[in-house]
Amino acid sequence: MKNKAREEISAAGSAPTLFDLEKKYLGRKSHLVSILKNLKALTPEEKKKIGTLANRVKNEISGIIKKKGEELASIKIDFEKERIDITIPGKRADIGHLNPISLVRLEIEDIFSRMGYGICEGPEVETEYYNFDAINIPKDHPARDMQDTFWLKAVSEKEKLAMRSQTSAMQVKYMEKHKPPFRIIIPGKCFRREATDSTHDHTFYQFEALVVGDNINVGHLKFTAEQLFSQFFKQKVRVRLRPSYFPFTEPGFEFDISCTMCQGRGCSGCKNGGWLELGGAGMVDQNVFVAAGYPRNRYQGFAWGFGFERLAMMKYKIDDVRLFHGGDLRFVRQF
Ligand code: FA5
Repeated sequence: MKNKAREEISAAGSAPTLFDLEKKYLGRKSHLVSILKNLKALTPEEKKKIGTLANRVKNEISGIIKKKGEELASIKIDFEKERIDITIPGKRADIGHLNPISLVRLEIEDIFSRMGYGICEGPEVETEYYNFDAINIPKDHPARDMQDTFWLKAVSEKEKLAMRSQTSAMQVKYMEKHKPPFRIIIPGKCFRREATDSTHDHTFYQFEALVVGDNINVGHLKFTAEQLFSQFFKQKVRVRLRPSYFPFTEPGFEFDISCTMCQGRGCSGCKNGGWLELGGAGMVDQNVFVAAGYPRNRYQGFAWGFGFERLAMMKYKIDDVRLFHGGDLRFVRQF
């Protein structure tokens, strides 16, 4: 016990610690004091032997504590060196912030949630079947060339894997597991083997809208889009649909909104046309429903796919899509 006490006392670095050790070894509830208190129960010989020993240990520990106390008291604190200048401005913690794509995504998800839509995410690596075949783009179809993507090492002859080129890849997968009516959006990352330019990157974000039920028509598509973009741009936005072709829609449309800078009057931002092109849309082709296991002509639905980057470019007046994923901190720190 004496050696352990000596060790602990010499390691004590402050007066409170030393006080605690004194209590532990010499206090009323210490082992040593309890030995001394119980001497009465011993024979005179034992009393003499144990009493002498216990008192000696007590005195020795007392001496060590006293010495340590003097040592601690002699340590001088250099208050000038320890002084803290509480008027120095604090260091700002670098906590980071959201990328403009995430800001746009959260805002869009918020608007759709308020309209009662579910939010569903799909995998970024997708089978050739869901990315193309299931949505009516069979092998050798020319539409595949428009969305050349990155292929992964084939796991089997039957199942080729690709980085998904569009969020439409999630349409049939979702429908296989859900019965109409439903309305969802599918936000997520897409990839294409592009020769990049100011409006095309190899990696970008899309969000798909998919609404399926009874008697869904183009009017629902247009009204929903007008609500969405008017809320997103905080101004009245008009929608224009131009006939176009997507294998998974019938009919299909190119989708424009009235220019948010000149409200459709014509400016340099919209090349004086008054409209800004935003993405593709249409009524879901019945072949897509059949691929999902629904009976042909039983349901109708609308779908669209828009790029988050394009929306962020409009909202924050950014002129090159490659800035979003370029990793240049001078760019992202502006948001
Ligand atoms: C499609 O991807 C269709 N899946 C959209 C769709 C869904 C049509 C449902 C009908 C029904 P498109 O290839 O046009 O269509 O892409 C849609 C939008 O994604 C574009 O308008 C653009 O905003 C964005 N986008 C496409 N490719 C790129 C790219 N390389 N870089 C940045 N954004 C892109």
